[in-house]
Amino acid sequence: MEIETVMSYMANSINPDGVRAQEIIESLEEDVQEELGHARQFGERIKELYGVVPGSLDFKAEQDFLQPPEQQTDIVHVIKGVIAAETAAIEHYNRIIEFSDDKDLVTQDMVIAILRDEERHRRLFEGFLREYEAEGLA
Ligand SMILES: [Fe+2]
Ligand SMILES: [Fe+2]
Repeated sequence: MEIETVMSYMANSINPDGVRAQEIIESLEEDVQEELGHARQFGERIKELYGVVPGSLDFKAEQDFLQPPEQQTDIVHVIKGVIAAETAAIEHYNRIIEFSDDKDLVTQDMVIAILRDEERHRRLFEGFLREYEAEGLA
């Protein structure tokens, strides 16, 4: 999930056109680094738990909402896609936090910290969306 988000945010930090795209581009460039850090933390935790980090052939893409829009000036599409990705991550991590509650407090602690990052990402993009909604553009 984190790796797919890196791919999607990378594409969406390059594709957008227009004067209003710059804020989104800069914000997603930053997020690419953070999501990469999350992927690394999950990988390292898998190893600490005696697992093996899967190879690329086991990768399955799921983020249909973050595919490039028809028009590269369609910033609302990107904003909504990011909100959807962050919401999916938030829901997934809340499930892991609950599941690990009486089993693995180290993983739980790590995921709680990552969850906060995702909540911050979503909040930022919800703010971007509000601006478009206020102008009747979303
Ligand atoms: Fe993440
Ligand atoms: Fe995120």
